[in-house]
Amino acid sequence: MSSEKFEKHILCIGAGYVGGPTMAMIAAKCPQYKVTVADINPVRIKEWQSDKLPIYEPGLLEVVKIARGRNLFFTTEIDKNIADAEIIFVSVNTPTKTYGRGAGKTADLQYWEKTARSILSASASDKIIIEKSTLPVRTAKAMERILHTNDKGLHFDVLSNPEFLAEGTAIADLENPDRVLIGSRETEQGVKARKAVVDIYANWVPRERILTCDVWSAELSKLVANAFLAQRISSINSISALCERTGADITNVAHAIGTDSRINHKFLNASVGFGGSCFKKDILNLVYICETYGLHEVAQYWENVVRINEWQESRFVEKMGHAMFNTIAGKRVALFGFAFKADTGDTRESPAIFITRRLLEEHARVVVTDPQALRNAKIDLQDVIDQVEFEPDPYTAAEGAHALAVITEWNEYRNLDYEKIYAAMEKPAFIFDGRNILDHQELFRIGFNVYPIGKPPLSHL
Ligand code: NAD
Ligand code: UGA
Repeated sequence: MSSEKFEKHILCIGAGYVGGPTMAMIAAKCPQYKVTVADINPVRIKEWQSDKLPIYEPGLLEVVKIARGRNLFFTTEIDKNIADAEIIFVSVNTPTKTYGRGAGKTADLQYWEKTARSILSASASDKIIIEKSTLPVRTAKAMERILHTNDKGLHFDVLSNPEFLAEGTAIADLENPDRVLIGSRETEQGVKARKAVVDIYANWVPRERILTCDVWSAELSKLVANAFLAQRISSINSISALCERTGADITNVAHAIGTDSRINHKFLNASVGFGGSCFKKDILNLVYICETYGLHEVAQYWENVVRINEWQESRFVEKMGHAMFNTIAGKRVALFGFAFKADTGDTRESPAIFITRRLLEEHARVVVTDPQALRNAKIDLQDVIDQVEFEPDPYTAAEGAHALAVITEWNEYRNLDYEKIYAAMEKPAFIFDGRNILDHQELFRIGFNVYPIGKPPLSHL
């Protein structure tokens, strides 16, 4: 299919959790554009071309199928598509740097910079480049500098259009976003480029929800949005510890404070800790930027959001050990859920990884079950794979277990036959509900010793 029949050719470099779903939505909503998603990973691209997509996301396959082969294409041919596209989204990974200056905090921009250099060498016409990846504030400047080293007389407008989708609800978030944010320069060229990007989203997003601002504010807003969301979770989790000491109930406290419309109910679910590829990475990035500017108090303030999260995860394992007579050695512990949240197979920074490793250090026998994430769990636990059992069926996982620990709030765990599970477990049987999704009174009635988050335990012992 030639691109002449399309109004525009949009390319996205990076076919991951963001690039794939975002471009699928643009293609589905805008049949007049050709949308190509390119990646260096041939396995990923092959999966995008099949009906077994590389990521699990409810509703994604249906959206992909609307447009794939019509105006949505997945490819490893990056240079040819760079040359052909007028608008290029860059959605490559920007993990935390693990080496050198800023290690453990700042973003590793090597994939980002490689992309800039590929764009530069493969381009023969002016282009609009859009940062879709989450980047430190002022990264667009570095991208501009690299691109404008060209001696071909080409002009590149670099804009920031951060993505706010959450995994598990990506399709709904993309179809009906709270807002789309586009940061550009206020120059004549910048405003023209901004209009081109606004026009894409205006095909389905109400105009008043498309916000525009300067590039640095758009970049920073993305980091700050994630920092604020994570801060709410760390705030409620910190109070969950106090509830456990005082006999108060975190669900009642969250409800009481959430009814204040200024606070609201969202993101107040106490948990075993937040995971996901971005919260920790983006906060540490923010912390690093603050330190770079000498704002040490600000850096410390945000770093504590991450510290509380780590403490919450380790507190969970401590609680298990303490409840089970101060030894977990030789005991079979079934982890219900390995994904970092429900409705995704993604396990990046999942609390399950830390918890499994800590349990193994205590010589527990760990069995992991999850409806979507076992493939990734095996990769995360590659180095200890001989010590962990992976079992798709939760009933089989629970057989002979001394304890169950709910790590992911999968809906199906709410409605299991816990009488049957109890009968198959070692006694005394323990449940540690890291998500407060189970009916604790009912479990207690069945015979379990129940340890929720932020509530007094229900124990027969
Ligand atoms: P991901 O790891 O799933 O995907 C990134 C893809 O980029 C990979 O498939 C990788 O092979 C590819 N890639 C890397 N270098 C490349 C290159 N030079 N050329 C072509 N392809 C290349 O990452 P993701 O979760 O999609 O995140 C991408 C960015 O979006 C990150 O900056 C992240 O912070 C941000 N973000 C992620 C989410 C989310 O829910 N995952 C939400 C909002 C924003
Ligand atoms: C988060 C943000 O919600 C998105 O807006 C953002 O685009 C994305 O990060 C990103 O930049 O990657 P995501 O990580 O996919 O999205 O999922 P969330 O729903 O935010 O959940 C993150 C973690 O917090 C999960 O482990 C979840 O279980 C936990 N959580 C969430 C709680 O423990 N309690 C809550 O009340 C809410």
